[in-house]
Amino acid sequence: MVPLSGSAAVPRVSRVTGRLRVPGDKSISHRYAMLAAIADGVSRLHGYAPGADCAATLACLEALGVPIERGPVLTIHGLGMGGLKPPAAPLDAANSGTSMRLLAGLLAAHPFRSVIGGDASLSRRPMKRVIEPLARMGAGISAVDGHPPLTIDGAHLKAIAYTPEVPSAQVKSAVLLAGLHADGRTTVTEPAPTRDHTERAFAAFGARVIQAGTSVSVDGGQRLRAIQADVPGDISSAVFWIALAAGTPGSDLVIEGVGLNPSRTGVLEVFRRAGAVIEILPRSGLQAGESTGEPIGSIRVRYGTPQSFEIAPAEVPGLIDEIPGVAALAAMQPGIAMTVRGAQELRVKESDRITMLARGFHAIGIRVDEYPDGFTIHGGPPSAGQPDAAHDHRLAMAFAIAGSRANGAVEIAGADAVAVSYPGFFDELERVAHGQ
Ligand code: S3P
Repeated sequence: MVPLSGSAAVPRVSRVTGRLRVPGDKSISHRYAMLAAIADGVSRLHGYAPGADCAATLACLEALGVPIERGPVLTIHGLGMGGLKPPAAPLDAANSGTSMRLLAGLLAAHPFRSVIGGDASLSRRPMKRVIEPLARMGAGISAVDGHPPLTIDGAHLKAIAYTPEVPSAQVKSAVLLAGLHADGRTTVTEPAPTRDHTERAFAAFGARVIQAGTSVSVDGGQRLRAIQADVPGDISSAVFWIALAAGTPGSDLVIEGVGLNPSRTGVLEVFRRAGAVIEILPRSGLQAGESTGEPIGSIRVRYGTPQSFEIAPAEVPGLIDEIPGVAALAAMQPGIAMTVRGAQELRVKESDRITMLARGFHAIGIRVDEYPDGFTIHGGPPSAGQPDAAHDHRLAMAFAIAGSRANGAVEIAGADAVAVSYPGFFDELERVAHGQ
């Protein structure tokens, strides 16, 4: 349990067996909620991500006039294209970069002023990457020296062809969401492939998406149809359990109902390279919940002989969120080294994930060499200490996973950050530690 002070004592894990499920995918949840808000009809979403990030998206949509009923099934009453209402107060995206950047795409196309801000961490994150294309489409959009809050004066937009400077699914999605409302065909050409949940979600809601090589296009003026959908489990949350089972002798774990979209599963190859034994369990036919074009399956992971491994720059956009989880595996394996390069984007995530990850692992006796664009971790075993999660949910989980294999007491400062994507994480870790 995480006490109110926000720190958590990490239980010691000696073997990981059985089955577990992870919360709904954060990226897919944001997109389904936003598209449901501008669709015709009532959408019903099962397994919507339970964390604070996706709650921030819902709160923003409600402030824009969208009726939402919460419960085991999330019900969203769509307002139709162009139907969002002017908000009475600034919108709060809290810690969520995806909420802010994707909503900016929608708000750019609505003819009223909105302001969208966030917490201290989000207020440090770069927004020029969405400001530039949305301004080119005709929106009035400004920030404070490139950082939140964003002030958006929505307008009648014109289509553009755009190549983002950095590979970013958020930028691609913001432009495509705006493009859905623009005159003409909007095209985004990616410098490197990024997750394609927006493209799949557009199709699920009945919009036509045109893919050609590294480009994706949408025509403006299409209407969306409400959906019923199951949100798959989040592979970015599953990686923490994969790391723990892969790094703990005698483990054999099945994680059920995980999203297996190929643009998100690159991390499984990296775990294999690190020595883990990973299988996608065989299944027959379409799984419940796959009707919206997102593949779902179960992952079996067993301990394997640890190996040193590298993550190459070209792999980084496909597994950027999973690097802290993979790092946790490296940290708990004596005698191995993990190196990642070309990952400078890590510095502008919920924290500076290079410096803060190195600092947190140092606190439990792990040596980390830091580079401008990555790091090398020299494996453990971790020792007693108090790593600081730096208000970053994925660092809190990475330190807890490595800490659960430490040879002394580990306490995570700022462990309550897990609420951003995985509120039940520490309860699940207790269950795993007690073999339940
Ligand atoms: C996300 C895209 C990624 C990722 C983030 C979620 C998304 O960010 O790190 O957690 O849902 O589109 P970038 O687009 O900045 O790479």
